[in-house]
Amino acid sequence: MDKPVLVTGGAGYIGAHTCKALAKAGYQPIAYDDLSRGHRAAVRWGPLIEGDIADGVRLDAVLARFKPVAVMHFAGFIAAGESVTDPALYFRINVAGSFSLLDALQRADNPPFVFSSSAAVYGLPEKMPIAEDAPRSPVNPYGETKLMIERALHWLGQANGPRHVTLRYFNAAGADPDGEIGERHEPETHLIPLVLDAAAGRGGPVGIFGTDYPTPDGTAIRDYIHVQDLAEAHVRALDYLLAGGASTALNLGTGKGYSVREVIRAAENVTGQSVPFHDMPRRPGDPPVLVADPSRAGVVLGWRPTLPKLEDMIATAWQWQERSAGR
Ligand code: UFG
Repeated sequence: MDKPVLVTGGAGYIGAHTCKALAKAGYQPIAYDDLSRGHRAAVRWGPLIEGDIADGVRLDAVLARFKPVAVMHFAGFIAAGESVTDPALYFRINVAGSFSLLDALQRADNPPFVFSSSAAVYGLPEKMPIAEDAPRSPVNPYGETKLMIERALHWLGQANGPRHVTLRYFNAAGADPDGEIGERHEPETHLIPLVLDAAAGRGGPVGIFGTDYPTPDGTAIRDYIHVQDLAEAHVRALDYLLAGGASTALNLGTGKGYSVREVIRAAENVTGQSVPFHDMPRRPGDPPVLVADPSRAGVVLGWRPTLPKLEDMIATAWQWQERSAGR
């Protein structure tokens, strides 16, 4: 098999889009996923190995069988709001699960490692946009779990652990422009899919979580980044590591932020439908503003977003949601 890459969480949203990009770049993605939140139908560019990252024996067998040239670790839970109400779940899956994987990698001589981290590690940054050396001080358990693995990778790296690229995603959005895969979380908690469901008349009006933030229109601002651009950044991070690149952490965003109200307006423009909404209190654990300074990813990986417009993200997500709703 040619250049196999183990992709934990390969049946999930960003993992599946990255599997497609890996295959296009000549790698063989091996998706490893327990399907607790991923989707079998999203695994289309290589085999699916059903397994839990907590299962060290199974991981050993998969690593021995495929001998991956690198490992990308997407498997984990991602909802900041849920992590506030059920922190134990997040520490178990994201921290204990990642450690089980890192232990297995050590037994397999530590192949290079690409880690899915998050803007959530920054907490309430004082300076905007956020550069990688900004203080990391998460305000929700989800961000804390990502930071714990980042710190562990740092110290493991000092002790012959894997060379790694940590990718700090801002808000992943959109869907494969070819329409083959897209975003599907159950239950859905993310803003853009919920806004599009409301535009289509499925589900209720969108609740705007917080209208008293210190932002121009009072709603929270996020840096939305197209999932295909995220996928491409992973392929470049892999090429970088395989060329001998040193361990590093990189922000992945566009550098431009949009408020919740701006997202709703953009969705109305793209879909031609009105989006019913109502104002609600803030969601615990939500920072007011998260906008990336993505320039370092440009310098280190030569990566730049190719679909930076919010309208493109919404249009591809809309195409996917309308297609999958008809299935
Ligand atoms: N929001 C609403 N109503 C909703 C859902 C969301 O107003 O029904 C708001 C949120 O309060 C937030 C914004 O829309 O201000 C975006 O919320 P999402 O739930 O779509 O995304 P988050 O910003 O909470 O988190 C996402 C990922 C995390 C990642 C983070 C990085 O889920 O994994 O982006 O910025 F860490």
